[in-house]
Amino acid sequence: MDLSIIGSGYVGLVTGACFADVGHNVTCVDNDAHKIEVLRAGRVPIYEPGLEELIHRNVAAHRLRFSGSIKEGVDNSQIVFIAVPTPPQSDGSVDLSFIEKVAREIAGVLTDYRVIVDKSTVPVKTGEKVAESIKRYNRHGAKFDVVSNPEFLREGCAVHDLMHPDRIVIGAQSEHAADLMKKVYEPFMAPILVTDINSAELIKHAANSFLALKISYINAVSAICEASGADIEKVADGIGMDQRIGRNFLNAGIGYGGSCFPKDIAAFITISEKLGVPFSLLKEVQHINAAQKERFLKSIRDTLWVLREKKITVWGLTFKPDTDDIRSSVAIDLVGDMLREGAQVSVYDPKGMERAREISEIKSARFCENALDAVDGAEALVIATEWEEFANVDLAVVKEKMTTPIVFDGRNLFDPSTMAKVGFRYHSIGRTPVTPD
Ligand code: UDX
Repeated sequence: MDLSIIGSGYVGLVTGACFADVGHNVTCVDNDAHKIEVLRAGRVPIYEPGLEELIHRNVAAHRLRFSGSIKEGVDNSQIVFIAVPTPPQSDGSVDLSFIEKVAREIAGVLTDYRVIVDKSTVPVKTGEKVAESIKRYNRHGAKFDVVSNPEFLREGCAVHDLMHPDRIVIGAQSEHAADLMKKVYEPFMAPILVTDINSAELIKHAANSFLALKISYINAVSAICEASGADIEKVADGIGMDQRIGRNFLNAGIGYGGSCFPKDIAAFITISEKLGVPFSLLKEVQHINAAQKERFLKSIRDTLWVLREKKITVWGLTFKPDTDDIRSSVAIDLVGDMLREGAQVSVYDPKGMERAREISEIKSARFCENALDAVDGAEALVIATEWEEFANVDLAVVKEKMTTPIVFDGRNLFDPSTMAKVGFRYHSIGRTPVTPD
């Protein structure tokens, strides 16, 4: 099928490349001329495992092309996907101005029937507004259908998630549009759920909020583990073995971050308030998430006493491993907090350094070439993101390089007894701290 994707960010680019890989002809559109130039030159503006290879393969096969023109995208496709940003506003609501603008622009160039699909994460009832807007600016009176088709991919494994989805959600008001959408997804061989547009939009916010709730739940339990001497890893295993609950997303840590969870939960709280049914449970989820970082900071302060002038190394700046994305990263917040308290912070991340250098709050940190350089002379090591590179490091060398071998592991990357054997004083989340054997 001929498809176009308006917006070539994380979701748009990965979706476009995967659609092309299963045999569709795809035009990825973006209004950032530089980005289109970069993509046409064979470079990929984001780091996402497997994406570059996928793009190269499909560009070479002439199934994937890039354009700066919405008209070109709309003219050359039966189905037009909208995948533009929906950034948060200060009151927690979502800025829908990019979607509104794209809807207007699509309407202006619409000459024949098209299915217009919203893939961006939006509050419930946005599809109705998109349809209204297209109808209003539809100069040629062309027929169209609006569909909601939320995306559930995770950064760092986006290509895998898109190629092997748990489910496809299609919110449509016409059978014809739903049938066309089913054809798009046929090659993915995943279960397809067809709903009305409002339900599809709600599924996305409700799913992300539930996952965040699961993380906050286990983080709240981790605090009880610390107070009682229980082990959060064992507790999570024990809970997760119940198939009704499942072990996924029960990893305790310093809290969730990223471009989705914090924004989507705030948006879900705001839209439910607007609808007159406040969702106070989600406020508690937010509260626990913020408290988790504070509890971690407190354990660092309790151990080091004063942070001023302390040489502290932070491994990991991205909001999760296998991405270069540092948006709403708890790791960045932690570095900022420690710098403000006067600590001398050295940082290293396998992929996030370039973007992190641009964050003014952490400009005064020392940006290091590699994980071992970063710990040279350190009085404490903080692990903020669970990159595999850190898990595979030679711990004996790390210990030798540090002035005082104290580790604060915010992602439970290491086994406490191993750390004690190597000679570390080791603090982690929801587990009893250990001292050298
Ligand atoms: C999320 C959803 O998973 C995805 O379905 C949706 O499309 C977009 O939002 P993403 O933000 O890319 O994806 O990453 P995810 O793997 O969900 O992690 C989000 C945050 O939660 C990270 O900061 C991660 O470290 C944290 N997390 C995740 C935990 O603290 N514990 C866990 O058990 C899982």
